[in-house]
Amino acid sequence: MLRVVVLVSGGGTNLQAILDAVDSGRITNTEIVAVISNNAGAYAIERAKEHSIPAFVVSPKAYETRDAFNEALLATVDACKPDLIVLAGFLVKIPAAMIGKYRQKIINIHPSLIPSFCGVGYYGLRVHEAALERGVKITGATVHYVDEGTDTGPILLQKAVEVLPGDTPEILQRRVMEQAEWVLLPQAIDMIANGREQETERQ
Ligand code: GAR
Repeated sequence: MLRVVVLVSGGGTNLQAILDAVDSGRITNTEIVAVISNNAGAYAIERAKEHSIPAFVVSPKAYETRDAFNEALLATVDACKPDLIVLAGFLVKIPAAMIGKYRQKIINIHPSLIPSFCGVGYYGLRVHEAALERGVKITGATVHYVDEGTDTGPILLQKAVEVLPGDTPEILQRRVMEQAEWVLLPQAIDMIANGREQETERQ
């Protein structure tokens, strides 16, 4: 069984998609062992509790320095003994020590087709605002491994989504979630849990 820890910051709809996919058998060979949030008010924590999954809050506000927060976050992750760490709307920069320790074992979902609309400052609704401002007709979502850069790690899965006339950032965000994010993230976890992640690599 792949031991998965999910890191969240907000609403947790991607977490919900993962939990539903485990329940329905679209993700196999996987146990969601814990959910960790940097934000005590995140609705994602309620979603974890409803599934009887341990939820931990590690908030930067509770620590005097960033280093102390980073150490606490890594210690909380380590205690869960994860095989895979999933960033599901986790809007905190991952400490370098965690990236080094869990190389190729951290994946992130980003709400655009990387390398468009990604990097520092592109998160959540801002990504969709930027896509609409630029006038792209196709956007989407990407699951990628996490390395030291922001949204620079190897790409695992991508799915395109149409931008439609009259879209607002909120409408586009919802369509990207429904058509791409909630499909791709469970798919990526299932692939990794069953040793099929190499299937998408370039030959
Ligand atoms: C999702 O759209 C996710 O792709 C995005 O935050 C949202 C979280 O929603 N992540 C990023 O922008 C990361 N750069 P959720 O809490 O409902 O899953």
